[in-house]
Amino acid sequence: MNILSIGASSSSKSINQQLANYAAGKIKNAVIQEAKIGDFPVPIFSTDLEETEGIPEQAQRFRELIQSCDAIVISLAEHNGSYTAAFKNLYDWASRIDYAVWCEKPMLLLATSPGARGGATVLEAAAATFPRMGAQLVGSLSVPSFHDNFQHGALKHSELDAQLNSLTQRLHKPTSI
Ligand SMILES: Cc1cc2nc3c(=O)[nH]c(=O)nc-3n(C[C@H](O)[C@H](O)[C@H](O)COP(=O)(O)O)c2cc1C
Repeated sequence: MNILSIGASSSSKSINQQLANYAAGKIKNAVIQEAKIGDFPVPIFSTDLEETEGIPEQAQRFRELIQSCDAIVISLAEHNGSYTAAFKNLYDWASRIDYAVWCEKPMLLLATSPGARGGATVLEAAAATFPRMGAQLVGSLSVPSFHDNFQHGALKHSELDAQLNSLTQRLHKPTSI
């Protein structure tokens, strides 16, 4: 099963990428493909640029990765209560290829931050809108206080980890006999 693991952040040390990879790693026999937003450099979206230059190749590549996976684990970084500018920009470009950005793929939606709210605001916004844009949402989870709860590559908060185990199972596709 091919899982696309997206950290919706422009940081090369993204805690959200770490969380998405950890969650994806819980799925048995998963082949994990990491999609860091910084690996898809695109100009700031504008309809003017779209008219003159068309859709950037990197946005097409992002969409192709979504199309070719079996399921998506995405963890959203929160900047000032919303998506990071880098993620939103790539997402806007991708939405111009097809409004159903998420290609009707099963999706586990996560968010984390060093603070006590754990990106709850951006998580709520995405949970409300991603399903309208082609995400088959299996569930969502916010992990607060990342540096307290996630140590040495694992979620130490047993209750949150149990929730994550249960959510990741919903993404699991039974292998055909
Ligand atoms: C410009 C800026 C705005 C931020 N706004 C928020 C916020 O609204 N809520 C929050 O929980 N953390 C906020 N943070 C802290 C981020 O959660 C923190 O930088 C986190 O590491 C981002 O995730 P990432 O490592 O995956 O990029 C902000 C950070 C920056 C740089």
